[in-house]
Amino acid sequence: MKHLLSTADLDAATATEILDIATEMANVSGREIKKLPTLRGRTVVNLFYEDSTRTRISFEAAAKRLSADVINFSAKGSSVEKGESLKDTAWTLQAMGADAVVIRHPASGAPHRLADWVTGSVLNAGDGTHEHPTQALLDAYTMRSRMGRIDGLHVAIVGDVLHSRVARSNVLLLNTLGAKVTLVGPPTLVPTDLNASVQVAYDLDAVLPQADVVMMLRVQKERMTDSYFPSAREYSRRYGLDGARLRRMPAHAIVMHPGPMNRGMEITPEVADSPRSTIVEQVTNGVSVRMACLYLLLGGAR
Ligand code: CP
Repeated sequence: MKHLLSTADLDAATATEILDIATEMANVSGREIKKLPTLRGRTVVNLFYEDSTRTRISFEAAAKRLSADVINFSAKGSSVEKGESLKDTAWTLQAMGADAVVIRHPASGAPHRLADWVTGSVLNAGDGTHEHPTQALLDAYTMRSRMGRIDGLHVAIVGDVLHSRVARSNVLLLNTLGAKVTLVGPPTLVPTDLNASVQVAYDLDAVLPQADVVMMLRVQKERMTDSYFPSAREYSRRYGLDGARLRRMPAHAIVMHPGPMNRGMEITPEVADSPRSTIVEQVTNGVSVRMACLYLLLGGAR
């Protein structure tokens, strides 16, 4: 595997291998020696055209724990603001010897174009409304570590599915790994054209008692026009996860959210901060999973 662009490119064996390597990485990180020499002498560039907290920092931490050199590039304050194209930016990074480029971009498909222009590996850290494969992998890792398996789980993905690259990558990966997925949200925010096997539901209260995992999504106000969206109060009333709804879920079921959260909109603080929530765990697991991805793509050998 040279690039990680989409979870559609991962078969069950490869996805499981990434999760298994991530488990090994987590064991290393948990011990006294926190750094591996695996990527010494290699350079990882974080190329971010959109804001990020979790993904950018955890890719940086992951690369550093593997002893790689890391260059952080933010479009804000760079020559992108003078009009430099993605292609010219890519060539500039190539000239500086990037072995891997981690890219987040507002345009769906930008990482795929980048992969044609650079000789190193490209990792998609979120492209428009298209995909966010490492988020889906860390979500799968979290499900497996909490529930002991992924095959046969019923995962409800709730909220603004239409604009969610997290949802798209999760649907594809969970299909591959044998989970059953139900998409839940207002009809205007749940696409029906996903090229994957999912159920669609509009009544959250009917789905909750049957779910093993409830993955809440951020309402992406920045990506929608007013016509798509009910009022915030109406949205919370019908699709927000609060304490009463949490108590209707099976006792073993967990609550996930990729972050950042709109507390009080799609999830209440009572639920986000409850022991049933894996939100902080997901962030921790993100470092090990991204270490596994860099390890698998860059391989350690020059
Ligand atoms: N989940 C996620 O992608 O978060 P960031 O936008 O903070 O990276």
